[in-house]
Amino acid sequence: MYRSHSCGELRASNNNQEVVLSGWVQKVRDKGFVIWADLRDRYGITQLIFDEERTSKELLEQARSLGREFVIQIKGTVIERSSKNPNIATGDIEVLVKELKVLNKALVPPFTIEDKTDGGEDLRMKYRYLDIRRNPVKNNLIFRHKVAMEVRKFLSDEGFIEVETPYLIKSTPEGARDFVVPSRMNEGQFYALPQSPQTFKQLLMVGGMDKYFQIVKCFRDEDLRADRQPEFTQIDCEMAFVEQEDILNVFENLTKYLLKEVKGFEIENFPRMTYDDAMRTYGNDKPDIRFGMEFGELNEVAQHKEFGVFNDAELVVGIAVPGAATYTRKEIDALIDWVRRPQVGAKGMVYAKYNEDGSFKSSVDKFYDQEDLAKWAAATGAKPGDLICVLSGDANKTRSQLSALRMELAERLGLRNPEEFAPLWVIDFPLLELDEETGHYHAMHHPFTSPKPGQLELLDSDPGAVKANAYDLVLNGNEIGGGSIRIHDKDMQATMFKHLGFTPEEAKAQFGFLMDAFQYGAPPHGGLAFGLDRLVAILGGQETIRDFIAFPKNNSGRDVMIDAPAKIDNEQLKELHLKLDLKA
Ligand code: AMO
Repeated sequence: MYRSHSCGELRASNNNQEVVLSGWVQKVRDKGFVIWADLRDRYGITQLIFDEERTSKELLEQARSLGREFVIQIKGTVIERSSKNPNIATGDIEVLVKELKVLNKALVPPFTIEDKTDGGEDLRMKYRYLDIRRNPVKNNLIFRHKVAMEVRKFLSDEGFIEVETPYLIKSTPEGARDFVVPSRMNEGQFYALPQSPQTFKQLLMVGGMDKYFQIVKCFRDEDLRADRQPEFTQIDCEMAFVEQEDILNVFENLTKYLLKEVKGFEIENFPRMTYDDAMRTYGNDKPDIRFGMEFGELNEVAQHKEFGVFNDAELVVGIAVPGAATYTRKEIDALIDWVRRPQVGAKGMVYAKYNEDGSFKSSVDKFYDQEDLAKWAAATGAKPGDLICVLSGDANKTRSQLSALRMELAERLGLRNPEEFAPLWVIDFPLLELDEETGHYHAMHHPFTSPKPGQLELLDSDPGAVKANAYDLVLNGNEIGGGSIRIHDKDMQATMFKHLGFTPEEAKAQFGFLMDAFQYGAPPHGGLAFGLDRLVAILGGQETIRDFIAFPKNNSGRDVMIDAPAKIDNEQLKELHLKLDLKA
């Protein structure tokens, strides 16, 4: 028997009991006549004591030879501590050791296994198995497990069936590049790893499964960010015989259930906002609505004066930054530099201070009098004491720049409280999106999304205006999930592929299986997928999903611990019928 108790279990009520514990040595404190060692496992820390009076010489020597992270087993007696530690659950007791066995020695770890470690990100990733011993990472993984369990419980109770779908498939277009796997048995042919199980879940609906879910890995070869990993996990769902409303209801209830179960946070019905409104009010299709700073459009009140920059702009738009009228010249200049960074890309920023005494002071006083500036305040909802920040230019670009500024200022002002949760549905997404570079339209969600009823005619005349039965769940400024009502009619799907620039042959080659299936009694259906990593991170009060993934990749898509991706040898290449031509 390796242990009678865990290292987090013993209390004063266990006093005088004989126990066996196993774990890792957190630290050893040698005071000469007495030695204390902290023994740690997943469940906590128990203090071990060896002393001259009660411990044999050999055992004391053995205790002295222990190093950090040694794996040991001890037998001993639980005793009351003379100085108690109210900060840990086992702080009332310690274990007087009678026998000690080193189960495995350990090299000195490259960083301290403490909540606040001295190890940088790279080092921690290289030795992720040591990082996982630290409370913050360990607790995140336990939290993830809890969320996943609650998801399974809720969906199963709602009648959803978890079905596994294959990983070696054909391209599923979700807007990223595919990871591909060469086939040894089929020379010159490749599988693609799923960007999502989209087509399979639709085929499950044709198969009559009715309510499907799966907690499933997805693979996307795209540029990485704090909220993106090349392999990530979805809570993927699909339902038959449903309308948008049915789906929003089920998944709003799931989200409410999770917020309550894992965070104790209760919330009324989620607000709904159209895509157009979200863009107009927040410059963003995933608005953080925990705070205000809504956009105020100023074209009407700021154009047709002498200020050429605004007159030439498609959009003049501002936000009121609460309490920021006291910013110094230096602070405002720093803000202007911030919006001019290439990542944001604004040419400059106009500002107006709305002083506590009701007067205005702006960077464009030459062109605008107090009355004009009062209209800016009205449009942006500014109050005395606020700073009005105004950007102008091309409408889409300006909105996205102001959105970036809004988020940055909210962060600096501490308005993004991680313990507050503000979910909303963004609905009525456009069906198609124009790719500025190629001039072609592509599906904003994916090609299987259905246009809103009655909008099909617009596809020819004004494709950009067609709205889809597509929706996103947004939580605290993050896209947590997205889905749509699907096309379930073969001809409509063929029309959609045509509009996306597929020839009938290409559509058949890539998605013939789906269109064939639609001919055998496909029910109306729809669904959505949540990003589990993102959901867990945000519920956990953070936005970096890496911290909630046991073995994540770094920003270059590498696993630095196992050193992947890696070269493969010529034999393996040959078997796969591959020849590398790195010069080409
Ligand atoms: P979508 O592409 O919107 O929809 O993805 C669903 C959710 O998955 C999460 N997500 C990611 N999380 C981490 N890293 C990534 N690289 C990443 N990419 C996406 C997001 C996103 O909201 N098949 C459709 C769903 C459907 O229509 O039912 C789909 O995959 O939180």
